[in-house]
Formats: sequence, structure tokens, C-alpha cells
Amino acid sequence: MIIARNPDQIFVGMDENRGLTDAIGRQFEYLRLSLTDVCNFRCTYCLPEGYRKVHGRSHPLSIAETIRAVRAFARLGLWKVRLTGGEPTLRSDFTQIARAIAAVPGIRQLAMTTNGYRLAEYARAWRDAGISTINISVDSLDPARFAAITGHDRLAEVLRGVSAAQAAGFDSVKLNAVLMRGVNDDELVAMIDFVAAHDLSLRFIEVMRTNDNVAFFGKRHLAGTAVVDQLKAAGWQRLPRLPGAGPAVEYAHPAAKGRIGIIAPYSPDFCASCNRLRLSSEGKLHLCLFGDGGIDLRPLLQGDDENALVAQIVKLTATKAPAHRLHMGDSGATPHLASIGG
Ligand code: 5AD
Ligand code: SF4
Repeated sequence: MIIARNPDQIFVGMDENRGLTDAIGRQFEYLRLSLTDVCNFRCTYCLPEGYRKVHGRSHPLSIAETIRAVRAFARLGLWKVRLTGGEPTLRSDFTQIARAIAAVPGIRQLAMTTNGYRLAEYARAWRDAGISTINISVDSLDPARFAAITGHDRLAEVLRGVSAAQAAGFDSVKLNAVLMRGVNDDELVAMIDFVAAHDLSLRFIEVMRTNDNVAFFGKRHLAGTAVVDQLKAAGWQRLPRLPGAGPAVEYAHPAAKGRIGIIAPYSPDFCASCNRLRLSSEGKLHLCLFGDGGIDLRPLLQGDDENALVAQIVKLTATKAPAHRLHMGDSGATPHLASIGG
């Protein structure tokens, strides 16, 4: 650990060989960047009443502020950025932001997560802007259920978008499905067959408890082990976790090109491999999805002092808590995941 490398740069918490680390030695390589908290869908586990403007909320970061943030994180060794929301593509300057981030020195991978609205039309433009991997939320393959979950009867449109993304040559196209007891848990086999047949990867995600969805969570949460048992019974095999990989435990099958992953935040040790930091659309640094209300970096993002911004990120990251407290019924300050991009 280096305390100060030269007088104008403070590198507390930055290990020269390992980049940005926290007090328990976790290394941060990955920034999740929310571009807006606005969403046009009303997913039952996230924004069941739809997006509601919070009084007095500030405007999302400008392109210039966003690029200042990304440059600082890249200087600290973060090389992967995921654009999230709300729904990030609702930003009219989405493609422009993507292109600018892809050009930041040190950014080797630009990813996005979308609800798939507009994907059919824009997949190629987003790929051309430098986005290389894309995750699309598809919680059901049944049109009526999809409509009931998201508030939009648009499954066919979203699946056309998935095909367009595959045709546009993204390095990876993945579907995200939130597992919900009594809603889509009877679709596991159909979903697994669908991704195997379409050469796609799929992530099953356990519903996470947020401050806004406590009753929903109690009724609908289903442990990922339900999926694991079915995968194993069908001959899927667990893959070793690669360094720098995300939180999913992945499975492969000799007859399927795509992989299936399970994201189970309630499993023991989930936080031990955390390699990500989050920046909200208003410029707050969230050290954990279920942490406090975020620490405002905006004044630094509006100025020119990149060294001060870097030093602040390093200092704050060192204070990251070792683990979330979800299993104790504590969701931190997070009202719903649209506020900081999941
Ligand atoms: N639990 C689990 N996943 C969630 N997402 C949003 N809210 C939740 C929640 N409470 C995820 C979904 C969606 C992505 C944008 O965010 O996977 O696909
Ligand atoms: Fe919107 Fe995504 Fe939340 Fe659904 S999960 S309401 S698509 S932000």
C-alpha cells in the first residue's frame, strides 16, 4: 500500500500493482454508471407504480461531468464501464455518451443494460458507438406475463431487439431474468431451452429486497438454488469463477453455446468478490448497492481538478463495508434499484 507517491497525487488505498483497493483488499475494476433514474417500464419488483419524479431532484450528469468521472476511475485502473439506469437509453444523448466513454483511455469494455425498448432500432448504432456487451431484461417469454411484470405488452418487440443485437455483432448478448416465486418459476425449463436454441446467455437474478418492495420480496423471493438443482439435473456444469468476473455463478452445457448464470446476493460470501463501484445519475458514489445514500462527487465533477477527484474516490473506496446486511433485513438507503442502476 502506497501512502503518497508524489506530492500532488495522493494514492492512499491505491496499490501500484493492483489498482484501486479497499480495506479488505478487494480490487475495483468495474464502474456501473447510471445515466438516468427515469424508466418507462413499471417492473413489479422495481418501479411498480412507474417512475415518479422526486421533488427537488437535480439533473443527470452532463456528458462533460460523466467523462470527468470516467477518466478519474480509469486512472485508478477501472477498465470496464456498464451504462445502466433507470433506462439509460431514454437519454437523448445516449449514443453520444457511449461514444465518448468508449474513447476514454483505459476503458477496455463498455457494456449496457436495457429493458430492450428501442433496441431493435438502435442495436447497430449502439454497437458502432463502442458498446461491446449488452444485457437485456426479459423476465418471461410469455407475452401476457411479460406485460403483467413490466406494464408493457412489448415482448415481441424486445425479442426482435435481442435478435438485432445478435446481428449487430456485440461480443456478448445476455438476457436477465428476475426469478419470482409464483410468477415465472414455472418457466425455467422453457427459458433454458430458449437460450440454448438462440445461442444466448441468461442470468437468473434473485429478487433483491429494497426499501420499496418489502412485501413483494416476502411473497416472491425464490432462492437461486431452485435453478441450480434443475440445471444440474439437465446436465449443466458449474464453471470456475474467472478473475475479474461478475457476481454470477456460471453453468455450461456441452450442447449449448450460451451460458446460464445465477446471481444470488443472499448466498454466503457474495460480497467477498465484489469488484464494482457505482455512480448514480446525479454523481453520487455508491460503494454498495445496499449502502448509504451515496457520497456526492458532483462538485468535483464540475471542476477541473482531476487529482482531487481521484484522491476523493481513493479515500472513499477505502471505507467500503465488507458486506451488505440484506440477510438482516437491512436494504440500506436504496428505495429501488432504478435509483442506482442495479
Ligand atoms: N431485484 C433483482 N433485480 C432487480 N433489478 C431491478 N430491481 C431488482 C430487484 N429488486 C434488475 C433486473 C433488471 C435490471 C435492470 O435490474 O435484473 O433486469
Ligand atoms: Fe425500469 Fe429496469 Fe426498473 Fe424495470 S427493472 S422498472 S426496466 S429500471
